[in-house]
Amino acid sequence: MKNFDYHNPTRLVFGKDTIKDIGKFVSEYGDKKVLLLYGKGSIFKNGVYDEVVQSLDKYGIDYVEMSGVQPNPVLSKVRETVDFMKKENVDAIVAVGGGSVLDTSKIAAASFYYDGDPWDFYEKKVFPEKALPIYGVLTISATGSEMNSGGVITNEEEKKKWGWGSKYTYPRLSIVDPSIQKTLPVNQTVNGAVDTLTHVFEEYFDGTKDTLMADEFAEGIIRTTMETVKVLIKDPNDYEARANLAWAATLALNGLNGLGRRGDWASHGIEHSISAYYDIAHAEGLAMVMPAWMKFVYKEDVDKFARFGEKIFGITGEDKEEVALKAIEAYKSFLKEIGAPVALSERNIGEDKIDVMAKNALLRGPLGGLKKLEEEDVYKILMLAR
Ligand code: NZQ
Ligand code: ZN
Repeated sequence: MKNFDYHNPTRLVFGKDTIKDIGKFVSEYGDKKVLLLYGKGSIFKNGVYDEVVQSLDKYGIDYVEMSGVQPNPVLSKVRETVDFMKKENVDAIVAVGGGSVLDTSKIAAASFYYDGDPWDFYEKKVFPEKALPIYGVLTISATGSEMNSGGVITNEEEKKKWGWGSKYTYPRLSIVDPSIQKTLPVNQTVNGAVDTLTHVFEEYFDGTKDTLMADEFAEGIIRTTMETVKVLIKDPNDYEARANLAWAATLALNGLNGLGRRGDWASHGIEHSISAYYDIAHAEGLAMVMPAWMKFVYKEDVDKFARFGEKIFGITGEDKEEVALKAIEAYKSFLKEIGAPVALSERNIGEDKIDVMAKNALLRGPLGGLKKLEEEDVYKILMLAR
């Protein structure tokens, strides 16, 4: 187990009927005028927009709006948002949506105080010294962005889908009301579960030794996620399953799951290259890549993959390698069962760009913690994922 120093400054307000208090929270912190940032319109259909603006009005918070943040959010929208925020001179951002809206709010919050291009932060040409406060109202549990500092943006001109974050870009406060997620299409609920599981795996399968507490914690999230997503596929209105899945998603990437470990994150790096070129959801790419990555690297830590098989799927046996391989197959079967795509071909992704995507994945250096991956390794993993 590795040393750590953990501080997560986000205040998390969780549960039913909590969105109506957003205006109260903003006013408690003294912010008077906010940017209301959201996506392509789901918040109009499920009443979340009305709830948020009624609450802002009730507490006398002035607001201006920016809509249209797309899934896999893009740099051009960030630039538009920052220009608008500067013109309107807002005090804070109220980000209403999923990872895409929250991620956009983070880079926008830092860029508010910077005269150059927001992408400079991603290229590490500049580092933020402050950022506007962010208030999150989460509408889909998946990324953990409601309680972490990260923001993943696609520079669509340069085909770079990169993550970035700083200690200033944690939301000040996030509201998670699981009940509003009942309007999610089934595939988006599944995406949330797959992203959650993959966040756990990225830390769990990293090769760090003697991580018993962290392993038990991770396995709790894995079991909860696998169980609740199946319930929700049958009954999207099951509040307890929604609440437990939502909490699992937050816990998977608010830093806790990674404590004492080094992390791997190669599958995320590879996925980001796929969705830089193809219009697929982040979690769809993860469902395709993760089992292929597992097959490629499991020999680096057979014991851990065997433990995964035993603790999650109840697979036992003398031969650990056999248990490990069965576990990988069991995970792939689970993905199929919940309707996630497990091969690139399921989203019409052929072999033609595999070499380009492998090169793209390595733009910021080798990937991986369990096994360091070079371009040819990523190429092989993508070929396995066909
Ligand atoms: O745009 P609207 O109309 O709001 O529709 C959204 C969108 O189409 C819809 N939706 C959201 N809440 C809904 C709803 N539809 C009905 N009812 C609701 N309650 O769902 C769609 C997906 O939304 P999006 O925000 O894109 O999903 P997600 O939260 O999965 O975010 C994905 C993005 O986050 C990045 C991904 O790469 C991707 O760009 N990630 C961010 C991370 C972070 N900040 O830490 C880590 C992750 O690994 C990930 O890379
Ligand atoms: Zn993810």
